[in-house]
Order: sequence, then structure tokens, then C-alpha cells
Amino acid sequence: MRTSVAIIGAGPAGALLSQILHNAEIDHVVLERQTRDYVLTRIRAGVLEWSSVEVIRAAGVGDRMDADGDAHDLINLAWGGKHVLPVQLKALTGRQMMAYGQTELQQDLYEAADRNGTALIFSAENVAVHDVTSDSPYVTFRHNGVDERIDCDYIAGCDGFHGVSRAAIPESERTEFERIYPFGWLGILSETPPLPHLVYTNHERGFGLCSTRNPMLSRYYVQCPIEDSIDDWSDDRFWSELAARLPTHIANDIVTGPSIEKSIAPLRSFVAEPMRHGNLLLAGDSAHIVPPTGAKGLNLAVSDVHLLSQALIARYANGDTAGLDQYSSDALHRVWASVRFSWWMTTLLHRFPGATDFEQRMQERELEYLASSAAAQTSLAEQYVGVPFV
Ligand code: APR
Ligand code: PHB
Repeated sequence: MRTSVAIIGAGPAGALLSQILHNAEIDHVVLERQTRDYVLTRIRAGVLEWSSVEVIRAAGVGDRMDADGDAHDLINLAWGGKHVLPVQLKALTGRQMMAYGQTELQQDLYEAADRNGTALIFSAENVAVHDVTSDSPYVTFRHNGVDERIDCDYIAGCDGFHGVSRAAIPESERTEFERIYPFGWLGILSETPPLPHLVYTNHERGFGLCSTRNPMLSRYYVQCPIEDSIDDWSDDRFWSELAARLPTHIANDIVTGPSIEKSIAPLRSFVAEPMRHGNLLLAGDSAHIVPPTGAKGLNLAVSDVHLLSQALIARYANGDTAGLDQYSSDALHRVWASVRFSWWMTTLLHRFPGATDFEQRMQERELEYLASSAAAQTSLAEQYVGVPFV
């Protein structure tokens, strides 16, 4: 096979890049290790920056998001079991946050690919990249028991943190930055009506988050020791712990119910530089991971794809490679901004094991300062809804 762009990975980054390249009539192939159903059943993020909403609409896959998504004017920060600060995203920035599940977006992207007749190759095994620093890179893989090869101009590594693309950049050329957080998030889904707005809570018992997927599907999280397993957490224990970490009037509004999904995720900040090596370009989790506190993982995948697709369109439309030459530094500028914001939100809202009284006081004072300062709230709000693309 021969194509212009070989995309590895059909998660949000790979599938959105495919959609935008299709719209620009740039031929491409997408190789996905898992089955379509496996990808569609993964429970992931649920919050879109307004910048992401605009990219998704421009790609022509925003109809169901606009119909079923839930645009929010505010998020609530709670602390000390009694304080609640509404951060007025729309009033402070003119932009909202869109609550729309990543699995819904994935469904929209796959249905668009079906309509487009895109070569989405699922169950691709042993995907490997070759000659990425040459002018004729290629990808090999095995599919339906047959060894295949795709010759291409560019390879887009959209294969997530555990993919093969990042490792194709020699260690001597790659710099990695990482912070592992000493706790995890236990998350559940319940078929119950969510609270009207997201609530992030800092409490001496630990962090909690009340979120949403749709009017009859709620997503909740509590911080837990990283060594915990879901067997340690009955539904009853989860609900009572979440309530204990919230102001009483908010806890009383939560409609509890049986969990239909329960999982524990570790938290890390990770960035690999650069995001380009020869004709291999990384986008999304293949290049960076953020703790979910700032709701940036999915949105960084969208912003990388926005920048990469614009660069590829310029290259194929008029041979202008400036965007590709600038891609890594442009993408990393936004990546580091979101990595810093996600680190800051995580540090502000979680109880760190072994934290000193001084550090607790610093958290409390920062939350009180946020409550007292429209400037501080505006800073949080503009980072949460996403700064517009230049
Ligand atoms: N060959 C082919 N596909 C692969 C390979 C491989 N060697 N390794 C991984 N993949 C696939 C995975 O199965 C997955 O479907 O690449 C895809 C990567 O998707 P994500 O991990 O979702 O990463 P990304 O598309 O960058 O989206 C980031 O997804 O995981 C969440 O929290 C993350 O919300 C963020 C978003
Ligand atoms: C979610 O709904 O899964 C969610 C929302 C906000 C976050 C993280 C996760 O910061």
C-alpha cells in the first residue's frame, strides 16, 4: 500500500486527524491495535475545552455533541467541608466547557469514518515504523494473518502512552519529563442524574469530583491510595466517602445508585520532547500525559491534531512545510501550558500523603485567595476552558 499519511492509533487523536485529513482530501490509512468495539467501550474523559468544541465542529463531527452535549457556564470548587466557590467560566471568559463523553466523540468519529469510506484498520498487529528520518518512511504490520507494508510520506504517532511511536525516537534525541503522583483516582459510573454542575472538592479525607455524562449517567471520583484495588471499594463505601468529602448540602443532592463501571487510575504528568523526528510526528498521549484534575488529556489530543492537521494541509496544498517544521515547538507550547495547569489543579486539590501542616495551610490559603479574587478566578477559568488557538 502507498498513502500520504500513515496514522498509528484510532483513539481520539488518530480518528480526529483522519477526519480532518479526509476533509482536506489528503489520503491516509489508520492502523489500530484493538478492535473497534474495544476502543468504543473504554471509559475515558468527559470534558471538552471550548477550543476543542470549535475544532470538532470545524471537522464536521460536532452535530451530536451540540445536540446531546451539555455546555456549562461554571464549575464549583469546594473545600473544608463547607466552602463552595462557583468559578463562572462563561461570565469571566465568554467561553464555556462542554460536557460530552470521549466515548461519544469516538463513536461520532468512527461513524464519520464509515461514511467517508476511510481505511480504519482494526486489530492491526505488530505495527512498526521504519526509516522515519528518510524521505520514504514506511509502516509494517500484520492483519488477518498477513504481513503488510504501507509506504508513506509521514507517520502520525497517535498510539497513546503505551504505543510504539515515541520509542521510535532514539533515546539520544528524546528528553522525557515525568512526575508520578502518590495517589490514584477511583472512578465510578452510575445511571443516576448528575449534579447540575461539576464539583471539585479538597478535603482532609482527600479529593473528590462530581461530574456528568448525560442527564441519566453520572461520573464520580474519589482520591484513593495508589495501592488500593476496586475490591477494597464497595459501592456503599464509595458513596459514603464521596459524601464525607463534600459540603453537606451538596452531598445531600447526590442521587446514588449501583456502579456500572468502577476503576482506579494512577496519576502522572509526562512530556516527551520533541514531538517530531524526521517524518514521524507524535500527537496526543503518545507524547504527553496529564493528571485528569484539569480535564486536559482529551483536549491536548485535540489541540495537537489541530496544529498537526493544519501543518499537513499547508504541506500538501502548496508545499509549505513551515507548519511541520514548527509543529513540535508549537504543540509543546500548549502542552506545557496544560501540563502546568493540570499539575497546579492537582497540587491545589489533593491531600498528599505526608504533607506538612504548612503545606495544608498553603492549599487552604490559595483556595481562599481564589474566592477573594476575580483575577485569580479568571486565570483559572481561562485555562480551564482553553485559551483560543492563535
Ligand atoms: N499499534 C496500533 N495502535 C496502537 C498501538 C500500536 N502499537 N498502541 C496503541 N494503539 C492504539 C490504542 O489501542 C488506542 O486506541 O492507539 C490508540 C491511542 O488512543 P489513546 O490512548 O486514547 O490516546 P489519544 O488518541 O492520544 O487520546 C488521548 O485518550 O486515553 C485518553 O486520557 C486520554 O483523554 C485522553 C485521550
Ligand atoms: C470526567 O467527567 O470524567 C472528568 C471531569 C473533569 C475532570 C476529570 C474527569 O477534571
